Amino acid sequence: MMTHPLSQPLVLPCGAVLSNRIAKAAMSEGLADAHNHSTPRLERLYKRWAGSGAGLLLSGNLQVDCLHLERPSNVVIDGRGQAELARLAEAGKGEGVQFWAQISHTGRQVDSHINSAPLSSSAVDIDVIRDAGFSFATPKPMTEAEIQYAIAQFAYGARQVKKAGFDGVSLHAAHGYLISQFLSPLSNRRTDYWGGSLENRSRFLLEVIAAVRRGVGPNFPIGIKLNASDFQKGGFTNAECVELVKILNDSGLDLLELSGGSLEQPKVVGVALKEEGEDGTRASTAAREAYFVAFAGAVRKIAKMPVMVTGGFRTVAGMVEALENGELDIVGLGRPLIADPECPRRLLAGEIARLPSPEDGLHLLHILGWFNIQLVRLGEGLDPDLSLTGESAVEQFIQIESKNMSDLLQNPVYQELRHHYESDMASELRANA
Ligand SMILES: Cc1cc2nc3c(=O)[nH]c(=O)nc-3n(C[C@H](O)[C@H](O)[C@H](O)COP(=O)(O)O)c2cc1C
Repeated sequence: MMTHPLSQPLVLPCGAVLSNRIAKAAMSEGLADAHNHSTPRLERLYKRWAGSGAGLLLSGNLQVDCLHLERPSNVVIDGRGQAELARLAEAGKGEGVQFWAQISHTGRQVDSHINSAPLSSSAVDIDVIRDAGFSFATPKPMTEAEIQYAIAQFAYGARQVKKAGFDGVSLHAAHGYLISQFLSPLSNRRTDYWGGSLENRSRFLLEVIAAVRRGVGPNFPIGIKLNASDFQKGGFTNAECVELVKILNDSGLDLLELSGGSLEQPKVVGVALKEEGEDGTRASTAAREAYFVAFAGAVRKIAKMPVMVTGGFRTVAGMVEALENGELDIVGLGRPLIADPECPRRLLAGEIARLPSPEDGLHLLHILGWFNIQLVRLGEGLDPDLSLTGESAVEQFIQIESKNMSDLLQNPVYQELRHHYESDMASELRANA
């Protein structure tokens, strides 16, 4: 019997081996407790995905700073939740499965109820649709000491996930979070050596990678998720991404995952809300099911590390075509693994040629809620409910997120940390860090 092209193993630069070419992409689960520690619900979810058939599992974004959360129920790597983190790492183990932790700092993309003075490269507001219920404060440009502190937080986060038993770490450098805020000329207006030229805007990322590598040693896999483009006028472009990858070639990375967009421009799920700039949809891209694969080809040609592309892959034919065209080494799958948590196994066995795409029938504003409610179900040990309507999902999602927010804001540990963060003493400590 012929082996499936997506079943071939892949040896990473550090020596680790991925058993096949399918990865479960990072998806924020919203299943941590009010202390931002992992829970049995998260363990149940990853136990199920450990048997999904994907060779690589990436966790949803774990935060390196407790006051920069993408949502109230993120896992935060704070040292206090280490036993819970170790149980999570254990839950994602399985035969032929690597389980990596994605670590992130949100920078300005944090709800203002959680942080009313978030840090970013510069004091540039997020430009999002206000009626979608978002509330973001104007960020504070980071001081030199705060930049060094954030670099140290990434290194600490990486060391902790290694200690907890994860098989690798992925740095979230995409989707408008802090590293991406430094990379994009739209959010980085600095005139010191952290801003301006691409070389300066990528300095934060490069320093983070170097600090993480020092922290985890030479044999531990490090990946990053990077935007192929911001898809915004004046933003980080695909041409810059190609230049950046040339620089990253010497940085000791094991995997480069390409995605795109941010909260301002949700190309990550294939949607554009405003003008896309010079990387705007071309006929060659529109003809492909995957959103970034046409851009990935140019990157893969010059990349010394393996390339993973995530976003929009739904047919086996589309995945095999991209692999055989030399546009990628690994196919990243997100939402299909929520709608059908065992779809990679069935795909590799040749049982299915197309993955589920329930998002096709949903309004953009319902997509997040729909997939999140399915994550809650999976965390409870249930199967996804494919008959769930967008309206009902959003109603349940708003209730759950509101409760999670109020539990977080009432948590005395969080209140104490926030008090310190906001106090002059803490600013002074950070300035002298
Ligand atoms: C519910 C949900 C949560 C997500 N959370 C994250 C995240 O924490 N980190 C990340 O890098 N991408 C995140 N993403 C983006 C996915 O990793 C992926 O790039 C996107 O869903 C497109 O891939 P797909 O078309 O296969 O779903 C999330 C997507 C969804 C739907």
